[in-house]
Amino acid sequence: MSNETNNKEGVSRRNFLSLASWGAAILASIPVVGGSLRMMKPTVHYEESTKFKIGTTENFPIGTIRKLDDQKVFILSDDEGLYAISAVCTHLGCIVFKTELGFQCPCHGSRYNERGKVIAGPAPRALPWFEITQDVNGTIIVDASKEVPQGTKYKFV
Ligand code: FES
Repeated sequence: MSNETNNKEGVSRRNFLSLASWGAAILASIPVVGGSLRMMKPTVHYEESTKFKIGTTENFPIGTIRKLDDQKVFILSDDEGLYAISAVCTHLGCIVFKTELGFQCPCHGSRYNERGKVIAGPAPRALPWFEITQDVNGTIIVDASKEVPQGTKYKFV
């Protein structure tokens, strides 16, 4: 009787240990299988394009001051040409607004003159100016990844 009980307990214990080890193996393999499945699908991060079309010269008569909210850029036009100035404050990245004398940041009060040069901190440097080109159809393209020297203005026909 005692032997039979031991056998039953032994088998039961063996079954329990077997099930427990299978369970542990399955649990341990979940991250590996999950990671492998995840690697089968490529992870692609799409970044916003730094180049964008803004229309033709007719859209920007002399005296134009237009803020493109999505691109965070000001497009301005005067008798010397068309130019693009970043609307992103060089302090901590808030979006500046246009004032009569230039630009101002609403976050910490930095002020820039009409060319984007800092006239009151804490902004550490001027607002960048961006390259403007024109394609064969006359469409004007701004490339916010290409800075140009302050004062660079573009005349298009
Ligand atoms: S983010 Fe513009 S002054 Fe601080």
